[in-house]
Amino acid sequence: MAEAETPKKVGVLRALGSLLPFLRRRPGWVALSVGLLLTNIAIELTLPQILGRAITALGSPGTIEFSLTKAVGILLTLVVIRTGVGMILGPIRNSTVQRTLGDVRAAVYDALQRQSFSWHDNARTGELISRASTDIGRLQEFFFVCLLFAIDVVVGVVGTLVLIFATNALLGWLALAAMVPTVSAMAWFAVRLQPRWRRVHDRHAAMSTVIQENIAGVRVVKAFAREQAELGKFQDRKREFLVELTGAVNYWAARVPFAQFLFGLGVPLVLWAGGRQVIAGDLALGDLAKVVFYLLALGNRIGVIGQITTIVQNAGSSAQRVHEILHAPRTLPDGTRPWPSDADPTIRLEGVTFRYPREASLSFDPPPGEPAKPPAPKFEPTRSVALDQVSFEVPAGQTVALVGPTAAGKSTVLALIPRFYDPTQGRVLLGGVDVRQFRVTELRREVGIVFQETFLFSASIADNIAFGRPEATREDVVRVARAARADGFISELAQGYDTVVGERGISLSGGQRQRLAIARALLGNPRIILLDDATSAVDSRTEREIREAVQELCQGRTTLLVAQRLASVRRADWVVVLQEGRVVEQGTPEELLRRRGAFVELFRTQLQEEVS
Ligand SMILES: Nc1ncnc2c1ncn2[C@@H]1O[C@H](COP(=O)(O)OP(=O)(O)OP(=O)(O)O)[C@@H](O)[C@H]1O
Ligand SMILES: [Mg+2]
Repeated sequence: MAEAETPKKVGVLRALGSLLPFLRRRPGWVALSVGLLLTNIAIELTLPQILGRAITALGSPGTIEFSLTKAVGILLTLVVIRTGVGMILGPIRNSTVQRTLGDVRAAVYDALQRQSFSWHDNARTGELISRASTDIGRLQEFFFVCLLFAIDVVVGVVGTLVLIFATNALLGWLALAAMVPTVSAMAWFAVRLQPRWRRVHDRHAAMSTVIQENIAGVRVVKAFAREQAELGKFQDRKREFLVELTGAVNYWAARVPFAQFLFGLGVPLVLWAGGRQVIAGDLALGDLAKVVFYLLALGNRIGVIGQITTIVQNAGSSAQRVHEILHAPRTLPDGTRPWPSDADPTIRLEGVTFRYPREASLSFDPPPGEPAKPPAPKFEPTRSVALDQVSFEVPAGQTVALVGPTAAGKSTVLALIPRFYDPTQGRVLLGGVDVRQFRVTELRREVGIVFQETFLFSASIADNIAFGRPEATREDVVRVARAARADGFISELAQGYDTVVGERGISLSGGQRQRLAIARALLGNPRIILLDDATSAVDSRTEREIREAVQELCQGRTTLLVAQRLASVRRADWVVVLQEGRVVEQGTPEELLRRRGAFVELFRTQLQEEVS
């Protein structure tokens, strides 16, 4: 079998670039933010012009037409406008960024929902949660860069340089000369900073893993009285994270002033060169002052360049991780055929061989100091193929029981019918049509499924039952709950159907959960039922209730039933015995009992119990 391969990461810049289209979804907001920002930059660039003019005029009174009152008035007006613009710009920019971030979140959520089963099989839940929360959070700063810092720096720096050149070419060249070593030094520092941010993120992930595992495994931690040790482990991870984080932040914080110092050397230079021109009478005093004001403003912008570098480096690796989810290839091509209303629900498997795909869904960063090697997959298969040349039929309206030892491939067979996976070889047919031809959503709506493990959402029991049909009325819900023999225990709960069940429905027993799942499937009134019955060890009353529920579910439908209990198998029209992915026996229950083969072997204990 091919080694699990992790997908290649896209470059930081490409990943960040792929996020830009999200800004295009809010054109009005973005235009407003950018427009207001440009207004402010324009005001900022105008202020030194007015000051320069005033200084020139005051230095040699009477030579040019000048009104001090007017100059002060204009200055004051501009400052007031700038404050006003700033006050509305902040909230508008914030909303734009938050809305855009919301769009990214929705897109990631959508991509996660659309991914195939095998993609999810090969991705870790913790990893996905961290990408969908922490990483998207880090992108917030990136959108601020796009809407604020980048525009501010580019327009601000270019605009300032142009205005300095327009005032005096020599001083323009000097300003440019001061920029070059400064920006080079910043770039040099930034390159050295990048691996530090990488380590910060790795340490953060290590710390989060401890938190996540301790929450998920809280029972084990408590049962073995390991609270102190686990707390110690967390403290260690937290310390390591903080050391890296302060290291990275301080590295940068200590170097920005150095870069600003380099640039600061330009000011005396300009003063010297410009001062000589003023003395020689070639340059107005106000123009020299103007250039100095511009230089000081440029110096502040250099700090902003530093901030941009930090943010882009920080958001870059997060953008890569989000990009991978958004652009993961869809492995399940959709069909085009609508589900016919008079469809024949016969299920047929023809020579189906299936191997679970093993490619890793996501790339990953190795833990600090360790060489890159793919993480072990979530599932280690016990053999190379899960199903091997499986063929059988479930005729319309009949019930077929699928039996076999654990890991035989029973749940896998069920998963192939609504196309959770596609067979590696062979075909699955519904009414003679390959399931790959149907539209997936329609196909899945026609097939009712009761999974081996029932997942309940943290919502009321009624909402859980109506999950697939949210429009169902309370009467419908109660009706199916009655049919599924769940009404009894639900009515005993204080809040009845409105009782909220826990994250995983932990307050309900396995048998109760299963009956809720049966009710959920019944509500859709599907013509095909797939039932993965895992509960083999329940008391006789529950056993009877579940049996009745199952009977109700199968009534008049085409049913494929994974069965653990002899009583359910006996009522089936046909039995298929699976072993290690192969069909080893099939026939009516009576035939198989008489044959004394694999089937009898499988149910030996239950048969003996019946006899005694
Ligand atoms: N998502 C998965 N990814 C990879 N391998 C899997 C996955 N699910 C099951 N397998 C493997 O496929 C084989 C068949 O598993 P399956 O779940 O179909 O068995 P089963 O007959 O339903 O067993 P049980 O009675 O215990 O539920 C096993 O070897 C198992 O390890
Ligand atoms: Mg199973």
